[in-house]
Amino acid sequence: MSLRIAVLGSGSGSNCQSIFNAIDDGRLDAEVVIVLSDNPDAYILERARQRGVRAEVMDCQGYKNKFPLEVQEALAAQLTELKVDLVCLAGFMRLVKEPLLAAFPRRILNIHPALLPAFPGVEAWKQALEAGATQAGCTVHYVDAGMDTGEIIMQAYVPVLPDDTAATLHARIQVQEHILYPAAILSAISRL
Ligand code: GAR
Repeated sequence: MSLRIAVLGSGSGSNCQSIFNAIDDGRLDAEVVIVLSDNPDAYILERARQRGVRAEVMDCQGYKNKFPLEVQEALAAQLTELKVDLVCLAGFMRLVKEPLLAAFPRRILNIHPALLPAFPGVEAWKQALEAGATQAGCTVHYVDAGMDTGEIIMQAYVPVLPDDTAATLHARIQVQEHILYPAAILSAISRL
């Protein structure tokens, strides 16, 4: 039976698209059963709708960064009801805490645009550039209660070029993200 995935994202959803693509070309035996966003205008929702995947907005009660515990509790119940096997964070910019972690132990993954443990947090590619790093990259890891601190599943390296801007570096990292995330999901599935 194919694996049931939920995707959470706040932005464009290109990583969600890479999961759709991996399913379509047979790399992943899985189905995305729901896409959720904390941002009603996020293009990730449109990508889901275009595919006929259920797309829903989570109302984070006006908080800019906080992921209210009640919202996480309701989400855990909803995803359990939907018999979700794996939760994939794809550009989701809020911290997941106990209600979701307890409901999906070692079943929540995140992709981060840096070689963790270096440069956790927002706009990691900018942090790498500003720190003068010569290597950047991306990481897929299990989610724990920290910020980008969970056990690493896979990483990909991306060189920082002398004339890189934040935009060019992030674009090059994203090319690798789109390869890495489906591969890391496959690896996580094999460990379930
Ligand atoms: C990706 O680069 C992802 O790694 C990053 O947000 C971008 C989302 O792009 N996530 C984080 O920074 C999480 N800490 P997408 O919406 O096109 O997938």
